[in-house]
Amino acid sequence: MEKVAVIYGSTTGNTENVAQSIRELLGEDRADLINVASAGVEDFNRYRNLILGASTWGLGELQDDWDGKLALLKSADLKGKQIALFGLGDQQSYSETFLDGMGTLYETLLSCGVMPIGQWPSEGYSFGASTACVDGNFVGLALDEDTEPDKTEGRIRTWLKQLDTQWL
Ligand SMILES: Cc1cc2nc3c(=O)[nH]c(=O)nc-3n(C[C@H](O)[C@H](O)[C@H](O)COP(=O)(O)O)c2cc1C
Repeated sequence: MEKVAVIYGSTTGNTENVAQSIRELLGEDRADLINVASAGVEDFNRYRNLILGASTWGLGELQDDWDGKLALLKSADLKGKQIALFGLGDQQSYSETFLDGMGTLYETLLSCGVMPIGQWPSEGYSFGASTACVDGNFVGLALDEDTEPDKTEGRIRTWLKQLDTQWL
């Protein structure tokens, strides 16, 4: 499989920790780790396969560093690339905007013509509304370090196994 870029935006470090775990589980030879805060357009253009991770802040807002890079993302050559998303949020305190940041990223990527992979079932979560949930599935891996940290590692491992069958 081609080398994957794991690109993340993180305000208090939760998404960064998950991105590091994903990279470790994939292996350093298979994945590069990039903080979106310092990413340039070439970091998106260089890879055919990408894993993008974002948390949600405010009331359903995309994490700040990602928000500042949306124009750059739109200017990148993403057409036809396989992109898997993971999102971090808090389903209890922010039940009505759970993982909306991942939803925003997904919408932007769709407008760029990417091939999204890595959808994840919403069963087992308890939330009111999420723009990251489409037809009963999350658009990417849904993680909640605030209220279900014990489930994170298992979810990541299961998702990565699933992704392995999806990369072309
Ligand atoms: C002020 C504040 C606002 C938040 N807003 C949301 C939200 O609207 N939706 C959500 O799912 N999570 C929300 N969260 C939870 C964060 O997304 C969660 O803590 C996440 O793990 C942070 O990841 P990071 O440290 O990588 O940025 C919020 C947290 C804080 C402290």
